Amino acid sequence: MKHESARGHVTGSAIYTDEQRVPERVLRLYPVQAKLAHARILGIDASAALAMPGVLHVLTARDVPGVNDTGPILHDEPLIPADEVSYHGQALAWVVAEDEEIARRAAARVRVELEPLPAILSIDAAIAAQRFHLPPSRIVHGDVDAALSAAPHRLSGEVRSGAQDHFYLETHSSWAYVDVDGLVQVTSSTQHPSETQATVAHVLGLPANRVVCRCLRMGGGFGGKETQANAFAALAALAATLTGRPAGIQLPRSLDMQLTGKRHPFLGRFEVGFDDDGRLLGLRADLVSDGGWSCDLSPPVLLRALVHIDNAYHYPAAEITGRIAKTHLPSNTAFRGFGGPQGMLIGEEILDRVARHLGLPPHLVRERNFYAEGQLTPYGQPVDDSEIRPVWDEVRRLAGFDMRWTERAAFNAASTDRKRGLAITPVKFGISFNKTEYNQAGALVHLYTDGSVQLNHGGTEMGQGLHTKMIVVAARSLGIDPARIRVMPTATDKVPNTSATAASSGADMNGQAVRAACETLKARLADVAAARLACAATDIEFADDQARFAGDPARAIGFVDLVRAAYAARVSLSATGYYRTPVIHWDPVALRGHPFYYFAYGAAVAEVEVDGRTGVHRLLRVDIVHDVGHSLAEAIDLGQIEGGFVQGLGWLSCEEVVHGQDGRLLTDAPSTYKIPTVKDVPEAFSVHLHERTKAPRAQVIGGSKAVGEPPLMLALAVREALRDAVAAFGQGGAVELASPATPEAIYRAIRQAQGRPLS
Ligand code: MTE
Ligand code: MOS
Repeated sequence: MKHESARGHVTGSAIYTDEQRVPERVLRLYPVQAKLAHARILGIDASAALAMPGVLHVLTARDVPGVNDTGPILHDEPLIPADEVSYHGQALAWVVAEDEEIARRAAARVRVELEPLPAILSIDAAIAAQRFHLPPSRIVHGDVDAALSAAPHRLSGEVRSGAQDHFYLETHSSWAYVDVDGLVQVTSSTQHPSETQATVAHVLGLPANRVVCRCLRMGGGFGGKETQANAFAALAALAATLTGRPAGIQLPRSLDMQLTGKRHPFLGRFEVGFDDDGRLLGLRADLVSDGGWSCDLSPPVLLRALVHIDNAYHYPAAEITGRIAKTHLPSNTAFRGFGGPQGMLIGEEILDRVARHLGLPPHLVRERNFYAEGQLTPYGQPVDDSEIRPVWDEVRRLAGFDMRWTERAAFNAASTDRKRGLAITPVKFGISFNKTEYNQAGALVHLYTDGSVQLNHGGTEMGQGLHTKMIVVAARSLGIDPARIRVMPTATDKVPNTSATAASSGADMNGQAVRAACETLKARLADVAAARLACAATDIEFADDQARFAGDPARAIGFVDLVRAAYAARVSLSATGYYRTPVIHWDPVALRGHPFYYFAYGAAVAEVEVDGRTGVHRLLRVDIVHDVGHSLAEAIDLGQIEGGFVQGLGWLSCEEVVHGQDGRLLTDAPSTYKIPTVKDVPEAFSVHLHERTKAPRAQVIGGSKAVGEPPLMLALAVREALRDAVAAFGQGGAVELASPATPEAIYRAIRQAQGRPLS
């Protein structure tokens, strides 16, 4: 099964948000940006801009008829600030003009008077000022003090991880118009159309039933459009209602990078206790993320970091604390893995340090600490139906790890300037939204009398292949040719009150809802077929575009005839489907429970070669085994694993978000912000879907497991391989490797490992 839009993607004929315009000219918005990171707004004078031909309006806080706020959790995020600048580049007003060029020139003429205030521009500065978004969150499991003081060995350390820009190919895009009926029609590149609808309604002071939000497809979201599309949609809708004309925003790349949040940088401090064999006994960890100026999704991102620091390893006792620094930077947000990668980076750092402290091979210490079936995570969920060991063993064998472990040592003994590093790391990633109420989904399926099918569901398509998987689910359920099925744009008037397409659960949840709708239709059609074929409805099976009597496949009725017969018999050909994830529960105060329906598993082996004179490395080979259960679409799942891995590689090795002393984003273009290119893909790269010996225990759609985010964290194998190579330059002991491991960072780590650190 190929991606339903593969042809469009490759030929360039796939249509994105900005291309679905109404025939009328769409007005364009352009921001007036703050040139300070923190300031009081004394005045905004737009008269010169308004006098320019082609300028219709300059939106300021005064124009907002409803609530001037777009915060998804806390109401701390003015759509247009009235009195305070919270980060460098923040939009203080938006010019509405005939085209983007006019709007941009007019924005330069808007005079803003600011009174500078001191700005907090780093996690450390926020800690020093004790400036946090919320009180700390803490997971407590067992008696950590006792475990640490009884441990034969103890280590403490600190590790930081960097931000990451989403760099979706389609930047944020939204446009809106008020239709003849007074409905506000919004088209948006949003992962969460229902929240976008709600935000637009509340900014405009309208009930939700006056707003429709649609999303045909996104050119990538990666979490960056989970909440942050809402503001742009609201601005477009505001401009449309004030001018009576369609209005839209498609951010130029540099503005997209300046205005939107990134993956949260983290600072992690830890103290770990362990025995002579490297068995973990206790962990105390303190994590601080950089939330940026507003809260956005920082609390659940932090929580996912706290519940993933353990990764695949059992800690008998743990106390894990997290705080969100409040800085004068753009508001950081969801990004593939949602805090999980940041937690796991610290977790893998800990395992490596323990191993090097004891002089043991890191992979040995890692596997010694794997969860045994049924052992509890620090937040109280048992790790059951675990595939950690099988995927680990499989990739270790496929990669020829043991032989290459010796070979790399031989290579390193013979080479002075260049050293090789090899590592294997596991991934265990929890599937479900931590917030229980998000774990529900809906669908709406229509059969037409010509046998064609319209499929609506609550998820959004961002390249991950969700629509394709939904076609597979519906085609299997109805026993029909996938070509009969057309997936409709995601729309809030078709399926309401949906969750964000996020947490990798899009296919799991919407798939079950689609299946439920199809099963309802099938039950109705079975009655019609049974009457025709003179048998019991329970004996009807649907396959090969037919309904047939299970006992005698020759007694059959074609799908089109069946649908026509059902229509003639006045049987409804439209059905909704609904699903809520079973089993899960979560106590948001105690931070305990069973937040995940199941865990996704994978493991990766990576080998690098580092040049000690420059810190430049080559990624020689990567082998991956990932567990997707029984795939709904293998080509898509392989693409998700490859893409996720390479995106993780970018975060860990080349992508660096840099702000100036004044808080200005210095890396706001691909010239200065390096995402991985095709040449950064491993020289030898093999991805295998895990050969399962048994079906997943969780009742998952078609036996398939979520795949969107977990593979990103497989890239931690590269970071650990780099550390292994750096270690080979030194005399043993801890390897302090910064993240991202750019050539500069690797060079620094080598010098430090050699005992001659750079100042
Ligand atoms: N793959 C592509 N091509 N583009 C994307 O934007 N987003 C990722 C992942 N894979 C993304 C992607 C993220 S952050 C998530 S949460 C999941 O897809 C969401 O989709 P799913 O739940 O259907 O897997
Ligand atoms: Mo993905 S970060 O959950 O959108």
